[in-house]
Amino acid sequence: MCGIVGYVGNKEAAVFLLEGLSKLEYRGYDSAGIAVYDGSEIRVEKSVGRLAALKDKIGSNMPKGSLGIGHTRWATHGRPSDSNAHPHADCSGDFVVVHNGIIENYLNLKEELIEKGHAFRSETDTEVVAHLLEEVYHGDFEAAVRDVLRRIDGSYSLVFLSKKHPDRLICTKQDNPLVIGLGEGENFIASDIPAIIQRTRRTFIMNDGEVAVVTKDSVTITNRRGEPVQKKVFEVNWNAEAAEKGGYEHFMLKEIHEQPKAVRDTMSQRIAKDGSAIVIDELKWDAAFLNSFNKIYIVACGTAYHAGMVGKYYIEKLARVLVEVDVASEFRYRDPIVDENTLLIVVSQSGETSDTLAALKESKRLGAKTLAITNVVGSSIAREADQVLYTWAGPEIAVASTKAYTTQLILFFMLALYMAEIKKTVSPERVKELIKLLKQIPAQVSETLSDVDPIKTFARQYGFNEDVFYIGRSLDYDVALEGSLKLKEVSYIHAEAYAAGELKHGTLALIVEGVPVIALATQKSVYEKTLSNIKEVKARDAVVIGIAAEGDEELEKYVDHVIKVPETDELLIPILTVVPLQLLAYYAAITRGCDVDKPRNLAKSVTVE
Ligand code: M6R
Repeated sequence: MCGIVGYVGNKEAAVFLLEGLSKLEYRGYDSAGIAVYDGSEIRVEKSVGRLAALKDKIGSNMPKGSLGIGHTRWATHGRPSDSNAHPHADCSGDFVVVHNGIIENYLNLKEELIEKGHAFRSETDTEVVAHLLEEVYHGDFEAAVRDVLRRIDGSYSLVFLSKKHPDRLICTKQDNPLVIGLGEGENFIASDIPAIIQRTRRTFIMNDGEVAVVTKDSVTITNRRGEPVQKKVFEVNWNAEAAEKGGYEHFMLKEIHEQPKAVRDTMSQRIAKDGSAIVIDELKWDAAFLNSFNKIYIVACGTAYHAGMVGKYYIEKLARVLVEVDVASEFRYRDPIVDENTLLIVVSQSGETSDTLAALKESKRLGAKTLAITNVVGSSIAREADQVLYTWAGPEIAVASTKAYTTQLILFFMLALYMAEIKKTVSPERVKELIKLLKQIPAQVSETLSDVDPIKTFARQYGFNEDVFYIGRSLDYDVALEGSLKLKEVSYIHAEAYAAGELKHGTLALIVEGVPVIALATQKSVYEKTLSNIKEVKARDAVVIGIAAEGDEELEKYVDHVIKVPETDELLIPILTVVPLQLLAYYAAITRGCDVDKPRNLAKSVTVE
């Protein structure tokens, strides 16, 4: 996720560009840059770090001109640095481009362009777009942009500026947001409404495949085939703060709803085109390497630790390697048995959690090979680990992790399947079947998010209870742990998760009339056993909300309410069952009037031990 802006009008472009970018920093903030056409040249200014660093660099020497584009970056391809910051230019400096998204076939294009003599200055996927434009340009800017679009695969919103056409910007989008703000004698382009809301409330919301030519007095939009599109003006009636959250009341809710896209982005570049295999090009693991270690540790904190528990299940089940999971704050102090035959996988959304970083350093000291699963490119953990796999979830602002968890699960599943392919512990037919189901997950997450009303009702009904229990077996237990953490941290309700079979060893004493119990029952191999445990709590008059897969007609006979998620393989279903639990936590917190995005006593990134 990155933020992009564009301006064409009569005023100083740089003023709007910097103002607009400041409203988009929530989309990424590891570097920023602007490009302004000054009447003869395009002046590009960029800097690693937050927008403030760019402003400091520019100082009072603001680029002059009324045509420009800008970018605030969330690094994907290429670490945060001045040279990787956008805008990116072609060899001649005649074209500049800003991009939000991922160009999936950039490596092939880059090789081709280098062969043709293009010189690259960055490690980004985006730079190929500028050079490609230079390559295919023959006097018609729009035709050249369309040519570029035919050649690139992936997700993008793009704004193009050309010195040869100083009256216009051209923009387009595919799977990433883009809006055009309509002014008087000026027009604006941005990733999101907060960037333009101070200037105009009249907007066009761009659809996938549309191309807009934006001058100061006109906006001409055509579809993929070049046919004119008549757009309705969308009048923004939110206030600026609501706009930053995309119209959602809180970042947590926004991020819950971003999960279909986040999980799609995480998996998209890691599946072979024919769907027959997982391809993780980032990892250089051959069979010899995989067979060289006899143990895997997964080490993390909080939600990332819960994802690690699911990761253990996946790797053991699919790749048949022994895995231990530990919380980072314990791991290092228990003198773990780590040597050169150990693989340590650390999981961290922020990549900055100090306990996790310390566990990583200690394991390296003891000789382990290390792999980081993180969301933040260039973070301390990403830099320290031998190898890195990124969850392409985009920035997570709310303290409560949601999309980080589901994308971590996707990545663990793909890693386990990838290891299984190499170790030949799963048949090619089963691999194909699982990949087919994996590809359905983004749409199934959307489906799970499509009807939140029953969850709101439960939150209102039970939001004032002081204790809530979560139970489940196998993978359901792992998700129960995450569900209870979510509820605790945002609603302050005391919540505990138990392996359903463990209740009778003590905790059952706490189950009395009216106590809510959330019971997950999606794992077929332990389904009957879970039903027995549900009957145990029902017999003590608990109120049970069951979580089941579509097609399960049995569970509703034994519980008070059922929430159903779409059917999939039981390995993948945690990515769906956690969604209603996130929503339940969110709406319970709302019911209780809690500050959802900033829960008391907590911080987003825990950089102290
Ligand atoms: O950035 P990290 O993933 O390393 O953070 C780990 C935990 O601090 C984090 O998951 C925390 O538990 C969240 N607030 C949970 O929602």
